[in-house]
Amino acid sequence: MDKDFLNKIVIVTGGGSGIGRSICSSFHKLQSIVCVTDSNFEAAKNTQKQLGKNSHAFKLDVTNKEEINVVFDQIVTQFGGYEVLASNAGVSTMNYIEDITEEEWDFNMKVNAKGIFLTNQAAVQYFKKNNIKGKIVNTASLAGKVGAPLLTHYSASKFAVVGFTQALAREVAKYGIRVNAVCPGFVKTSMQDREVQWEAKLRKISPEKVMQEYIDMTPLGRLEKPEDVADVVTFLASNNSRFMTGQAINVTGGIYTT
Ligand SMILES: NC(=O)c1ccc[n+]([C@@H]2O[C@H](COP(=O)([O-])OP(=O)(O)OC[C@H]3O[C@@H](n4cnc5c(N)ncnc54)[C@H](O)[C@@H]3O)[C@@H](O)[C@H]2O)c1
Repeated sequence: MDKDFLNKIVIVTGGGSGIGRSICSSFHKLQSIVCVTDSNFEAAKNTQKQLGKNSHAFKLDVTNKEEINVVFDQIVTQFGGYEVLASNAGVSTMNYIEDITEEEWDFNMKVNAKGIFLTNQAAVQYFKKNNIKGKIVNTASLAGKVGAPLLTHYSASKFAVVGFTQALAREVAKYGIRVNAVCPGFVKTSMQDREVQWEAKLRKISPEKVMQEYIDMTPLGRLEKPEDVADVVTFLASNNSRFMTGQAINVTGGIYTT
């Protein structure tokens, strides 16, 4: 993997926080030129500042097709192209099924499922047109492998990511384009901080108990760190995974094994 990413252009979505920020950092350590994108431009700029040289921040909302085309085109013009897309941006909310509103359903589906569709579509169009054997790594979830209570809408959106990844991988394999996904478990990020509070309130238990349950469910016995996911993302974008495509790799500390 050492030289795989030297001066390679990598686009990361949702790079302003949590797992996305860590993905940016992992590619940067491997000497990529990292395009940090996020709908929250301030957050993207903060990641960029942390990384410094060979990183660039862009405002990019993954639900906005026009913005995706403009930013991806700008990256091609500015840096001469790109070879890797880590499509990581995502959102969650939590609720019992009877309380989930249509807006809540649409919000989760729009960012998590449609955002993957739109960003992957733009990248594949670019890779095919320019004969680039590009690599795409989508962030799905443990909740995209096994249904999670209070997250029916989120689970549906992440199962969509897994299905989309498998289908697209088969469609574009003949062009040498590889498409894989990672399925993280309970990762310590701002998304988790919000979920712990919501779950505690909904189940009428303490946030500490919710966190302890996450750890107890994890055979490796601790909360997941963003870098646990990021290292698998770089692997899936590297030549070390050259014969892997259409996979949704669990990175859950052993919670789920198929
Ligand atoms: N934290 C977990 O336990 C966990 C587990 C499994 C999967 N995931 C997935 O990992 C990914 C990253 O989650 P995280 O925990 O780092 O969350 P986070 O909230 O810390 O970071 C998400 C980032 O995505 C950005 N974002 C939100 N909507 C966007 C949009 N429309 N366009 C572009 N950017 C947008 C946010 O501004 C934020 O910077 C998500 O896809 C999430 O579903 C997280």
